[in-house]
Amino acid sequence: MNEKTVLVTGATGYIGRRLTHRLLETSAFKVRLLVRNKNKVQVSIADQVDIREGSTFDKESLAAALAGIDTAFYLIHSMGSTEDYQNLDRVSAENFRDGCIEAGVGRIIYLGGLGVRESASKHLLSRIETGEILSAKPEQIETIWLRAGVIIGSGSSSFEIIRNLCQKLPAMITPRWVRSQTQAIGIEDVLSYLQSSVELAHRGNLVVDIGGEKLSFQQMMQQAAEVMGLKRYLFPVPLLSPRLSSYWLILFTPIPYKLAAALVEGLKSETVLQNDHAARFYPEIQPLRFKQTVADAIHELEQNQVISRWCDSTGQQACDIKDFDNPAGAIFRDIRIVPFENGERQEEVFQAACAVGGPNGWFKYNYLWRLRGVIDKIMGGYGLNRGRRSNRELRVGDALDFWKVVDIKPGKRLLLYAQMKVPGEAWLEFDVQPDQLVQTAHFLPRGVLGRLYWYMVIPLHHFVFNNLAKTVVSSSTKSG
Ligand SMILES: NC(=O)c1ccc[n+]([C@@H]2O[C@H](COP(=O)([O-])OP(=O)(O)OC[C@H]3O[C@@H](n4cnc5c(N)ncnc54)[C@H](OP(=O)(O)O)[C@@H]3O)[C@@H](O)[C@H]2O)c1
Repeated sequence: MNEKTVLVTGATGYIGRRLTHRLLETSAFKVRLLVRNKNKVQVSIADQVDIREGSTFDKESLAAALAGIDTAFYLIHSMGSTEDYQNLDRVSAENFRDGCIEAGVGRIIYLGGLGVRESASKHLLSRIETGEILSAKPEQIETIWLRAGVIIGSGSSSFEIIRNLCQKLPAMITPRWVRSQTQAIGIEDVLSYLQSSVELAHRGNLVVDIGGEKLSFQQMMQQAAEVMGLKRYLFPVPLLSPRLSSYWLILFTPIPYKLAAALVEGLKSETVLQNDHAARFYPEIQPLRFKQTVADAIHELEQNQVISRWCDSTGQQACDIKDFDNPAGAIFRDIRIVPFENGERQEEVFQAACAVGGPNGWFKYNYLWRLRGVIDKIMGGYGLNRGRRSNRELRVGDALDFWKVVDIKPGKRLLLYAQMKVPGEAWLEFDVQPDQLVQTAHFLPRGVLGRLYWYMVIPLHHFVFNNLAKTVVSSSTKSG
């Protein structure tokens, strides 16, 4: 029986959420999570883990989270924060390394990006610097630094790009970089490397490049299309700049500009393994073929088993939704009250409210919601493309079209915070009472523009919100 206690940081992010599940399902380690907002931890695992709220920028909370830890996973980045995310990444890594040394942690396991410094994008450079900082005091703490390029898994940004492009475009004129070689890896293999690193019998620092077969982005697209039963044609031309490619991606995929630009930068030059440490130190792990990783990701999507998505976190300096679960300060409100007159039940109405958006749509005025999504996309927002993680359930932190779930009180309250481009802060609240639904759109305007915006959309709100509240209530009896 292994009594090791491991700390998973970034436990509400894409990799961290899945790693937590993996460790709970297949290891005997005691698992502690460091999270910035404990409400984001999925309810189903909350009683199996030791949850500590804190941040790497708050040394006190960090020290408390690291006390008694044998091995600590570092799965954090600040990209998506200010332009100066490199500096934030630096400070975060230094605090973490020094905190680990102070607490007597035996090993740090870090997952960074694949690629060499000479051709690295700004994002990759920051990932390299993070690895160097974490590994800088080997006499005091050892670091296993795994480096992965494109990760394929349900909800991963790279997979979402490939899937959306394949599904939406039969033929594509593409930039030349689609021919650069890369070594993508499936998320399950990434988790295996992370997990095996806890007990790897190796002393001192180690850098391990992980990846599957060598393929170009063009080949990945074609193979992914085959898995989906489609035939796709790519015509690389020298004309398309990385900037244009990024615009192209935001148009046809859910990925916002910043992330698209980082991915394109990353793919522009060859990103292949620089060492054979994965095969030497982890011979038991045989990375899956690319096609298999795509098939697995699609299967998870179809089964509604997506544990995490690229949009679970936004990598800002503070948790993006922590302070938004109470719209009490809003100035404008659109309130719709629908009494239960046809035997509707509170729990079922709540379930119906939780089913809105994504492929389920927004009822009668879905086209107006879609139009709002297009406007948002044009303005550089997410639009409606993020959809929802699962058709069946919502959890705090889930993206839901251009909303974020910021509070759930089962059977009673669902609160969504608007991440669309809007001159102010906006929320949509479903307060399900025993005999009625109170649906409120809250708005805290920013300046005169915010106020003008609110008055301009009042006529649209009349139709859209009225219909939404009524249909949530009426559909509750049908869905049950
Ligand atoms: N995903 C990929 O495709 C991929 C590919 C190659 C390498 N990697 C590497 O894998 C690592 C994890 O990436 P990811 O995709 O899982 O990131 P992610 O989804 O953006 O998650 C980042 C996590 O870090 C947390 N966080 C951010 N700043 C923090 C701070 N100061 N203190 C405590 N927690 C903080 C976030 O919390 P909130 O939820 O509160 O925001 C979130 O849980 C990164 O090093 C990345 O370079 C990822």
